[in-house]
Amino acid sequence: MHSYAFVDPFYWAEAELAGREAGEKVRNFCHSCHSPGGVLTGKIPADGNKASPTAKAGVFCDFCHTVKKSTGIGNASYFVETGTTKRGPYKDSFSPYHETEYSELHTKAEFCGMCHDVIHPFNGLPIEQTYTEWKEGPYSKKGIVCQDCHMTPGPQVTKPYPGVVALGGPEREHWWTHHTAGANVFMSRYLGNEDTAKLAEERLKSAARIDIVQTTKFRNKAAIKIKITNIGAGHKIPTGLTEARQMWIELIARDSTGKTIYSYGILNKDGDLNKDTKIYNTVLGDKSGKPTMKVWEAEKILYDNRIPPEGFITEVFEFPISGATFPVNIQIRLLYRSAPQTLINKLLKEKPVVPVVEMAKVNTKI
Ligand code: HEC
Ligand code: HEC
Ligand code: HEC
Ligand code: HEC
Repeated sequence: MHSYAFVDPFYWAEAELAGREAGEKVRNFCHSCHSPGGVLTGKIPADGNKASPTAKAGVFCDFCHTVKKSTGIGNASYFVETGTTKRGPYKDSFSPYHETEYSELHTKAEFCGMCHDVIHPFNGLPIEQTYTEWKEGPYSKKGIVCQDCHMTPGPQVTKPYPGVVALGGPEREHWWTHHTAGANVFMSRYLGNEDTAKLAEERLKSAARIDIVQTTKFRNKAAIKIKITNIGAGHKIPTGLTEARQMWIELIARDSTGKTIYSYGILNKDGDLNKDTKIYNTVLGDKSGKPTMKVWEAEKILYDNRIPPEGFITEVFEFPISGATFPVNIQIRLLYRSAPQTLINKLLKEKPVVPVVEMAKVNTKI
């Protein structure tokens, strides 16, 4: 995803809109994380197609490995010293092609925190808080950093992963893979990178569990209480661009003849969720308090009902069962997608279908 950070059409469409509605300064703010090389080497032209290859490379090798220090958390707080020295996690690396320098920063979550916390540049509203969610959660206390889950081959901590990092280099006890897959099955697949899409899907499936707490029948109704636990993510689920991400419960109850007697959280024919579907995400409000997905307009957080790391939430679903033949089979799934279909249809001419990924599933009977 880092290599797509600038050319990502979803990003590009949003940054263009931000530029048109809020001005060039805001768009350059966006580029500071999505194209650090472009911003450091000069202005990125208004027509993104004419941007230099360095700008288009997004968050690329040489950028990350020339970072010398960080000046804080969030809002592109990196300090870069260019030259032939590459900085990284080894104290003993030697390359015939460039100088090397050990950098403790690269081994820490604070390295990622330079960009994975976004604060509104004018009003200070915390918009994206992945680093802070991690810092305030249990994983930072256990010493498990972003790299342990996102720069390893499997979901969760799959360390050590021994191997030779570079041609002619020694066998290392552990080396860091660079897919940095997260949850973006949509964009990875759309841009033709099925490998990263699979890694993202694997991570989504490792993040959550659904447990049935209680099922009851009374009069003509059934009630079912479930618990959704964040078992695998080092931050809230979902995290990052949480005003756009959607996570929700789908519930389908079928009676013994196979007839659907109740359903919830099903996409309608436009690919939308009905208004009554509870979506786990953040809703930003503009200055009049109306919900907005435009981060530059955001002045407050109207609500945030995401699930913290190792935390859980409970939900109760009630539905009528009169006339049903028993047993009634109930299938409950936790679903995720990167953005609402209507938003993507508005932003991208091709209107690609945003894939829905199953994070967790449980079946029960009443
Ligand atoms: C988002 C920033 C970022 C980008 C982009 C990036 N790296 Fe890294 N790289 C890191 C970090 C951070 C580590 C060390 C992780 C740790 O120790 O916890 C690392 C480690 C390394 C290492 C040490 C060996 C190892 O364990 O993998 C090499 C070599 C390396 N990167 C080369 C590259 C190359 C080549 C590219 C481009 C194809 C690249 N990096 C892109 C951040 C980045
Ligand atoms: C220079 C800023 C910058 C730094 C430093 C950085 N990232 Fe990122 N990262 C981004 C941007 C921008 C994106 C979004 C790209 C997109 O969606 O087009 C991204 C995307 C990601 C994704 C993919 C998210 C998804 O939805 O699938 C993961 C995972 C990730 N970064 C992890 C890390 C980790 C781990 C580190 C530290 C080793 C790190 N990043 C350091 C800017 C950065
Ligand atoms: C214990 C493992 C673990 C740790 C630690 C961890 N993550 Fe994640 N991360 C996950 C899993 C699993 C997912 C997929 C579920 C989700 O979207 O939250 C994920 C998803 C993401 C995403 C994509 C979210 C989205 O919905 O768009 C980003 C970005 C990300 N992580 C960045 C980070 C950064 C930055 C850190 C450190 C501050 C970090 N992660 C620490 C496991 C981890
Ligand atoms: C401080 C760094 C930073 C700044 C500034 C920033 N972003 Fe991002 N952006 C990120 C990171 C990190 C991600 C990945 C989070 C995730 O995957 O959920 C991201 C993801 C996105 C995505 C999702 C792309 C996808 O394929 O799902 C869009 C769209 C986006 N940003 C738009 C913007 C716009 C518009 C601005 C300016 C108003 C902006 N960003 C400013 C760091 C930044």
